[in-house]
Amino acid sequence: MNRGNQCDVLVIGSGAAGLTLALTLPTEMSVTVLSKGELANGSTYWAQGGVAAVLDSSDTVDMHVADTLDAGGGLCREEAVRFTVEHSREAIQWLIDQGVPFTREKQADLSDGGFEFHLTREGGHSHRRIIHAADATGAAIFSTLLEHARQRPNIELLQNRVAVDVITEPKLGLPGNRCVGAYVLNRDTGEVDTFRARFVVLATGGAAKVYLYTSNPDGACGDGIAMAWRAGCRVGNLEFNQFHPTCLYHPQAKSFLVTEALRGEGALLKLPSGERFMPRFDPRAELAPRDIVARAIDHEMKRLGIDCVYLDISHKPADFITTHFPTVYERCLAFGIDITTQPIPVVPAAHYTCGGVMIDQHGRTDVPGLYAIGETSFTGLHGANRMASNSLLECFVYARSAAEDIASQAASVRYPLDLPPWDASQVTDSDEDVIIAHNWDELRRFMWDYVGIVRTTKRLTRAHHRVELLLREIDEFYSNYRVSRDLIELRNLALVAELMIRSAMTRKESRGLHYTLDHPDMQPEAVDTILVPPTYVG
Ligand code: FAD
Ligand code: SIN
Repeated sequence: MNRGNQCDVLVIGSGAAGLTLALTLPTEMSVTVLSKGELANGSTYWAQGGVAAVLDSSDTVDMHVADTLDAGGGLCREEAVRFTVEHSREAIQWLIDQGVPFTREKQADLSDGGFEFHLTREGGHSHRRIIHAADATGAAIFSTLLEHARQRPNIELLQNRVAVDVITEPKLGLPGNRCVGAYVLNRDTGEVDTFRARFVVLATGGAAKVYLYTSNPDGACGDGIAMAWRAGCRVGNLEFNQFHPTCLYHPQAKSFLVTEALRGEGALLKLPSGERFMPRFDPRAELAPRDIVARAIDHEMKRLGIDCVYLDISHKPADFITTHFPTVYERCLAFGIDITTQPIPVVPAAHYTCGGVMIDQHGRTDVPGLYAIGETSFTGLHGANRMASNSLLECFVYARSAAEDIASQAASVRYPLDLPPWDASQVTDSDEDVIIAHNWDELRRFMWDYVGIVRTTKRLTRAHHRVELLLREIDEFYSNYRVSRDLIELRNLALVAELMIRSAMTRKESRGLHYTLDHPDMQPEAVDTILVPPTYVG
């Protein structure tokens, strides 16, 4: 279906957040969903562990809320946590109704109000509350939602489309303050098209690609955060970058995550000598929240000068391991590691962007008509450290809430006027793509070295000088040359890196994922880091 690039709702992103929103909107509304690569290219497809929710009869909303607040280092917004957790059961029911093949209990006894699906545990959770599809939950959810979206006549799915910027009335000098569309690079034609929409939704995922080593797929470049900032939206808590403690350490394994659910089911972290070390760092040992586990691994690696630590589940029966973790088992075996008999070499890697575009409970940003949902947003749920498997939950709950809000306004929002086309008259084809490649590498390397698990003021200052230089260079390049996916991503990554560094420099304490040797203690008062763009109109 081709709608001539106009629709009621333009959804930028085809992950859990974008597809859920598209499927929840009324079928009378025309919806276009964009993906910058193949539709499956976001983080959603790769999610392993599962979705946290209050599902077991012995679990309660209060307990899930308390665990989330505890993991979040005092910085979560309690109303956002409560809102998310209170809506967790209905979000999961919706997924079950869509047909997501979650793993079932082998012999479910439902007589005492038990739950027929298997629930696993992950770090920070005091209960078994993670519903999952073996260890490939994201693929199961994504495929199910995509199948439904493909069958909906009101939903158009476009891949290989990279949004460059959203279009707002003030930017065009038009009366009004709404977001009215987006400029989008069609990678098949090389042209930048103008999309008109009554509502625009950023569902573009996180920004972990800003680091050299990451569990995330290539597209996690913070595009939504950068676009929202340029459009005049505030961003929050971008200093909190979560490092997943256990990514496979192997020269040929590009960013393969070893799910935390292994630790939930009894896997132990060990040094090369075979000694367990987590009990020295936290009474919850391997099931402490991620910031604590990642920092402990980093500490041990630096102390002993070792390249990795080991995650060992080989004491469990082989058939238990292969049934619960078929993906991890197969993947490790392909690299010559049999996890039923051998420990897995692991290292921490950048995994999740806790901060993002500031939104309210309906996904509304500071710009009317512009929404942000999923990992690109900052809802206040995660505070200074996200608890495992709360992020997919956040995608579903806020996507559904945003869809309701859009539907309730649909009758009162007019169609935007004709919008001017993208102006490419002043640019030429680049003959120096090596600059883009070099800057990509430089940025991700200094972010890893200077803005990583353990920070200092000196390193942050250095990183800030470097990123300012890069931003100037990239700006010049952007003004003179035709846009490409690499250039758009680099421009966004550099901007988001600058916002992350600035946020980290503002925080004069150590809290959750932000740990600095110059301010090792936590301040008595927990305060969000909110950055305000020059174009913010309040
Ligand atoms: P994504 O799924 O990342 O989708 C982003 C979409 O935006 C993509 O379609 C992309 O093409 C599109 N896009 C981006 N920029 C543009 C642009 N400029 N123009 C057009 N399109 C654009 N969380 C859990 O809760 N449980 C787990 O078990 C879990 N496991 C994980 C395992 C791995 C390996 C990873 C990487 C993450 C995991 N997470 C998990 C985190 C979770 O998967 C993500 O936070 C979540 O999937 C994000 O969903 P999203 O819809 O916000 O974005
Ligand atoms: C994992 O399976 O360990 C990832 C879970 C998450 O990121 O929430």
